[in-house]
Amino acid sequence: MFFKRILPAICLALLFVAHLAHGQGAPALSVKKTQTLAANAKLGKPISKDLFGVFFEDLSYAADGGLYAELIQNRSFEYSASDRKTWNPLTAWEYTTEGFGYGTISVETAKPLHFNNPHYVLLNIDDAGQQGVGITNAGYDGICIKAGQKYDFSVYVRQVSAKPVAMQVELRGDKGAVCGTFSFQTQAGAWRKYTGTITATASSDSARLTILARQRSVLAIDEVSLFPHNTFKNETNGLRADLAQSIANLQPKFLRFPGGCLVHGDGINNIYRWKNTIGPVEQRVQQRNIWNYHQSTGLGFYEYFRFCEDIGAKPLPVLAAGVSCQNSGGTWKIGGTGQKGLSLAAMKGYIQDVLDLIEYANGPTTSVWGAKRAAAGHTKPFGLQYVGIGNEDKQTDDFRDRFKMIYDAVRAKHPEITIVGTVGPAPSGEDYDLGWKFADQLSVPVVDEHFYEKPEWFLKNNSRYDSYRRPKSKVYIGEYASWGNTLINALSEAAFMTSLERNGDIVQMASYAPLLANLKHTSWNPNLIYFDNKTLVPTVNYYVQQLFAVNQGDVYIPGIISLNRPGARADSTLAASCVQNSETGDVILKIVNAGPQAATAMAKLSGLGMMAANAKIDVLQGQPSDKNTIDQQKNIIPSHAEISVAQLNGYVVPPYSLSVIRISLKGN
Ligand code: AHR
Repeated sequence: MFFKRILPAICLALLFVAHLAHGQGAPALSVKKTQTLAANAKLGKPISKDLFGVFFEDLSYAADGGLYAELIQNRSFEYSASDRKTWNPLTAWEYTTEGFGYGTISVETAKPLHFNNPHYVLLNIDDAGQQGVGITNAGYDGICIKAGQKYDFSVYVRQVSAKPVAMQVELRGDKGAVCGTFSFQTQAGAWRKYTGTITATASSDSARLTILARQRSVLAIDEVSLFPHNTFKNETNGLRADLAQSIANLQPKFLRFPGGCLVHGDGINNIYRWKNTIGPVEQRVQQRNIWNYHQSTGLGFYEYFRFCEDIGAKPLPVLAAGVSCQNSGGTWKIGGTGQKGLSLAAMKGYIQDVLDLIEYANGPTTSVWGAKRAAAGHTKPFGLQYVGIGNEDKQTDDFRDRFKMIYDAVRAKHPEITIVGTVGPAPSGEDYDLGWKFADQLSVPVVDEHFYEKPEWFLKNNSRYDSYRRPKSKVYIGEYASWGNTLINALSEAAFMTSLERNGDIVQMASYAPLLANLKHTSWNPNLIYFDNKTLVPTVNYYVQQLFAVNQGDVYIPGIISLNRPGARADSTLAASCVQNSETGDVILKIVNAGPQAATAMAKLSGLGMMAANAKIDVLQGQPSDKNTIDQQKNIIPSHAEISVAQLNGYVVPPYSLSVIRISLKGN
């Protein structure tokens, strides 16, 4: 009896107390609440504190033209046909000659601003005419400006002709009306940066930015930039405030970046190299995006780390395992043939890059890479805890050899880092089986599983992790989504997420994917948040993610809720969970009904301590095909109310709904 029941209970309670002690910034709870929590811990099990987070990939213009607040497209004239066959250094630009001005424009590389940024525009103005000669940028499908808002402009100019040149910068709104200007005069010498703030005098969704030279001259121009003055948390080189806030509102415990397939790239020369993405933006190495566009790398690893810090999410950078995407040079349909590995000679430097990333994030400012972080403006370490190696790679000898080299090196030098491995692109199959076998051999702490499936799959696989072997590698479900953005898709995900909480002892983290998609450049569906230049649409799936993420617990308490529907047998459309949050002491119930008839939930709460008389309840409910769109952004959103706790033992669960009920313990 002692060994079977009491000893495990004591161990759980001790684990729980240790778990509590580990929590940072937790408000002090009363003795009574703490005793209740410890008692409840005996009834349940500790689960991951990092369970629900977000996956960010620069896909569907999620970074450039999306979260990265830069409004100028192709700001440094580095677009080329390798990004997209029809693109060139003047894509998104127009040569502007007005008022009888004339001259020539060319793209040059002879004396660049920086060797990583080789192309620039050379304007040779024979006659500036009445208004000037210059260039105009169309932004990403137009520039969205708002009357009264400030915009930070900058440009690098090398004055080639002898005399200073009067320059005029104009924001041009609807029908070309000038709605904000900034003037400056060039100076002789090398490349020089000119900056100014423009206040928009009118609003427009399709504004353009024009730079005009007002005198006969020869000028080189590069790195033209325009940012809204109000970026998220007012960071320089920052993020679009509304998009960043919508991610922050998910209260993610972690942020995975920068992808996805983007990480391992389209061929080995396209593998994402984090070192290319730090330092002054005009000196970063830009590259082709695997999703058929261009990465300015303006949103780079420094900005990702800062964003994590700003939203209180743990950073989870993912680096390639020294191999490229197996679909390189192909498509999903013909995939599986294109994986290429870095040469073993090249692996030495590559492994050093991985180690340097850890130093960049966590090292002292006296270390080489810690000093670079400090130089960028962040002396404090970023507190990196997780590093992902590989993204759903084909399990080949090339992959295994290179993964192991990186894995061994990181473990030897940084045993404090939790490495996240990878087990293929699907929830089963050859790469999944081989991936798990390999992870077992190496005892990889966490592995990344991916699944994009129909809603029925999510409903039927509710018990997937119940039978996973413990202890083994923990699981990070790095990418998952049911194929669609309707309520039934979101509810199937919600039902599945209750099982992640139930198995939160082995499922360490989970993130819906992808996160962001620009409505005009969507390469992948579904996504969590859609946006255009002006606005954004949180999908119904977003609200499910949010309800789970802001209501995370760290103890799972089984056997609290039973669900039934009159006349139904075991029913995969019903699911529920009960967790407790040790920071607040709150008990949280999540109840999903993905079926057409109401059901009844019996919540047996009496053993969980003295509770407040009323609880908070959020309900997401509608028709299975309901969704949010750009025209009906709030078609389906959660409703908030209070419910008497006594009513929970007999709570009528509406058809097609998710209910999240948060109950406080009594006492301070
Ligand atoms: O999330 C979209 C893509 O799906 C990711 O880039 C890739 O990892 C997965 O196959």
